[in-house]
Amino acid sequence: MSRQDRFLKACRKQDVDCTPIWLMRQAGRYLREYRDVRQSHSFLEMCKTPELAVEVTLQPIRRFDLDAAIIFSDILLPLECMGIGLEFSDGEGPVLHNPLRTAEDVERMRAIDPETDLSYVLKALEMARTELNGIVPLIGFAGAPFTLASYAIEGGGSRNYIETKKMMYTEPASFHLLMEKLTDMVIAYLNAQVRHGAQAVQVFDSWVGTLSSTDYETFVLPHMKRLLASLEPSAPHIHFALGVSHMLKLVGSAGADVVGIDWRTPLDEAWKKMGLKKAVQGNLDPALLFGSSQHLVASVHDILERAGNRNGHVFNLGHGIFPATPIDNVSLLIKSVHSGSARP
Ligand code: CP3
Repeated sequence: MSRQDRFLKACRKQDVDCTPIWLMRQAGRYLREYRDVRQSHSFLEMCKTPELAVEVTLQPIRRFDLDAAIIFSDILLPLECMGIGLEFSDGEGPVLHNPLRTAEDVERMRAIDPETDLSYVLKALEMARTELNGIVPLIGFAGAPFTLASYAIEGGGSRNYIETKKMMYTEPASFHLLMEKLTDMVIAYLNAQVRHGAQAVQVFDSWVGTLSSTDYETFVLPHMKRLLASLEPSAPHIHFALGVSHMLKLVGSAGADVVGIDWRTPLDEAWKKMGLKKAVQGNLDPALLFGSSQHLVASVHDILERAGNRNGHVFNLGHGIFPATPIDNVSLLIKSVHSGSARP
């Protein structure tokens, strides 16, 4: 067995020779070769030019012994197709123009046809599959409806999500309609990604941890259940939510094959809360890559011990890798995961 099939086998809880690893945001600014490409192209230009997107998708695979590639793109691109102006300004993160505030704003959002509106992503997937030539599987992704809704309503990142919660609490029907439209979009988009070459799909719910478990159950869970049940079953579904230690059981009940765990809850505790029938992905604090190598290796071993070589563990960070991450620690991390988990 090799890099070729470890990741998909672990997603399906089958036997592996060692624990597979990939890193959220593995194609990014911590790589010199990424910064080189980025120097002469804007981020959106990179996303929308399949040749460039494929090049940066492959960069971490060439440099490291990673077990999966993730297509280079962004969760916010489909919002642009739905009618919300999108801009990435250096240093400020994403900015969405004309944010949604009223029932009419929500009603005005258009449905998308991924085959035409996001054809550049689908083309990049096809080209990346060809280039990868079976070396490692290719992951497709989308934002989860709540995280996309919060961007669309706030107009960018947020600390307290006041506008989002205001819509939830004053116009619940509009909020649900927005979640429904976003859910329809994500289903169509991810199924198109699978048709065009994605072998697994991940849904990122990065900001849903701002909700109480009661609000999650009312405003998010029904949409996540429909979303996950409507995805093409041939590609495993990974559901990553950040900051949800207080509601892991609910998140687990949404129905994904693999649940991503952030670094806040010990892996074994999170796994038991969701039930050992699930596969899990995680959960090293990305900040540990800034620590000493001894501390990093000890932390890797702690996670591997908690996973206990049980089938169904994909190693990953608990959130995306930071741009300033020292590259040598990334190599050390990957080596420690593979050697520390080699099955007898
Ligand atoms: O994992 C990968 O390597 C695939 C590519 C990927 C990107 N964004 C590239 C990117 C993925 C999976 C994402 C998902 C994404 N985008 C999420 C969910 C994951 C998470 O981190 O919680 C979110 C919330 C976004 C929205 C977004 N896009 C933000 C907040 C930013 C700014 C971040 C920053 O550090 O400046 C982006 C831009 C972005 N997306 C970059 C990359 C490599 C940096 C762009 C640059 O080169 O300037």
